[in-house]
Amino acid sequence: NAAEKGGYEHFMLKEMYEQPKAVRDTLEPRLSNGKVVIEELGMTDEEIRSINNIHIVACGSASYTGMCAKYIFEEMARIPAFVDVASEFRYRNPILRKGDLVIIISQSGETADSLAALREAKEKGAMTLAIVNVVGSSIAREADKVIYTWAGPEIAVATTKAFSTQLMAEYLLAIKFAEVRGTVSEEEVDDMIQDLKRLPDQIQMLLANRNHIQKFANRYIAARDVFFIGRGLDYALSMEGALKLKEISYIHAEAYAAGELKHGTISLVEDGTLVVAVLTQEALFKKTISNIQEVKSRGAFAMAVTVEGNTEIEKTADYVIYIPETNKYFTSSLALIPLQLFAYYVAVARGCDVDKPKNLAKSVTVE
Ligand code: G6P
Repeated sequence: NAAEKGGYEHFMLKEMYEQPKAVRDTLEPRLSNGKVVIEELGMTDEEIRSINNIHIVACGSASYTGMCAKYIFEEMARIPAFVDVASEFRYRNPILRKGDLVIIISQSGETADSLAALREAKEKGAMTLAIVNVVGSSIAREADKVIYTWAGPEIAVATTKAFSTQLMAEYLLAIKFAEVRGTVSEEEVDDMIQDLKRLPDQIQMLLANRNHIQKFANRYIAARDVFFIGRGLDYALSMEGALKLKEISYIHAEAYAAGELKHGTISLVEDGTLVVAVLTQEALFKKTISNIQEVKSRGAFAMAVTVEGNTEIEKTADYVIYIPETNKYFTSSLALIPLQLFAYYVAVARGCDVDKPKNLAKSVTVE
């Protein structure tokens, strides 16, 4: 009912607006005296140093935050990381060795495949760590260690605030691992913590931009296909952008690694096709800009989500959304917001049941 939605039209919108608080609540208990302290991790420095591989296992959106984490664990902490969807991991007889850490990510903590993957990992002797939102859920109870995301109850089927808080748990873990393993300097850690603390206000600012995005979204209510492209972390986030749009608006959307586009999907780009490019990684700007040029020359309309200062993009993209400055590892949590708002407003304009999309369940507890 209306009261439960706190004046918002949908739970999804309400939950998007709860993100600054959810992110703050997830970060704050783990930041103390300028350090990352994850008490519930209960791992000694020696154990952290002896991690050989990280396997990240999850379903749906949670697996996309896992993709983000993969890039960060590898680049920041120099630990090889692999991502599997749980329904694949559990049936492929995964090779797990001593020193392998399996991270299961789940909002509900009850997803059947993720739970089965956790049991498989335990059976094979891996250390298991769950990033879970629902306290006392099956995955939280069975994993060796649990880091809770403090997003609070999420009602809308399409996840928003749980996704944001999963990113925070991953950022904290990566910093902790990197610090112990000596792959970042103390100064870099200080800077990252300062940037983490700024995220809630920055998310708030991006949410305040909703009217612009709504206007833009209204132009795409009749779209047939939308493509999301990016490289590295931005590719991982593109997958979430595409999933959000298809889940709630029923418009076909696909995410592509920007450099892979010309090996397939570009044949589907026609006059007026919307291509959403995410470019937050400075080292890859030029590469992705040339991909935008490729689709534009086939008639695409290009929307870009990029960082403040990358005004160069205006020469190529038709519509640009800037996110405020942050550490290169944390941009996903900001670029996410316009993608959520876009999907939401397209779905609203199409008259879709945003909170309860057809055929989808909030938590899939059967195989
Ligand atoms: C369902 C939901 C998705 C969610 C996935 C994993 O398919 O519709 O939004 O990402 O399950 O759920 P979990 O609770 O494990 O994060």
